[in-house]
Amino acid sequence: MRSAAILLAAGRGERLGGDVPKCFVELEGRPLLAHAVDAATACAAVELVVVVAPQGFGGRAGPHVAHLGEGAVVIVGGSTRQESVAAGLAKIDESSFDSILVHDVARPLATTALFDAVLLGLADADGVVPAVPVSDTIKRVRGGVVAETLPREALVAVQTPQAFRATALRHAHGGDPEATDDAALVEALGGRVVVVAAPRWNLKITEPEDLIVAEALLQVRS
Ligand code: CTP
Ligand code: MG
Repeated sequence: MRSAAILLAAGRGERLGGDVPKCFVELEGRPLLAHAVDAATACAAVELVVVVAPQGFGGRAGPHVAHLGEGAVVIVGGSTRQESVAAGLAKIDESSFDSILVHDVARPLATTALFDAVLLGLADADGVVPAVPVSDTIKRVRGGVVAETLPREALVAVQTPQAFRATALRHAHGGDPEATDDAALVEALGGRVVVVAAPRWNLKITEPEDLIVAEALLQVRS
């Protein structure tokens, strides 16, 4: 299977704060973008990496994939995550790749093993998402009042990297998509999306304290 990986880095990181977009913020002395590039490119099936950089920061992202030569391309993203995915998709030659990985650079702890696992799951699915069972009880709330407590056994929290058959992802992005993840678009068109077990520690860097937790987790892992 030939895969292209879209690494989404075009967000501003407003909740994180700081002087630079989130993808250039450092963890263990290296930008989040470099962590994602390493994990994706160590995956044997990945032959192309598409970095979707923040507007005005394409030049700053370039050096992080320079070592990949023609195996990487840097573009700038849109104003929503979905637009950034679409911009990445447009750079992937339809006839050359049968699977596409979509990964948030905001998840620097994602391992190559997780990239491999989601790709493996594509054997009998249109999309594969890493998922962890939720450990908190989840309630639906309206205006501060609990309307419903959801049965926790059926609930999972979903992460990236997510893997898709290229045709399914292109089809899903063909309309006027609005969703928080790409799998939801594939599901909406009746596609079969399956889950693989994910590590709880594949956290998304959102707020400043997430960086402290991520540093600690990296130390435990090494
Ligand atoms: N993303 C993107 N293009 C956008 C918005 C988000 O490529 N227009 C990417 C981010 O770079 C990130 C992922 O989508 O890797 C998840 O987004 P999020 O965690 O919300 O990151 P930011 O949008 O950067 O953070 P914030 O919402 O706090 O500004
Ligand atoms: Mg955001």
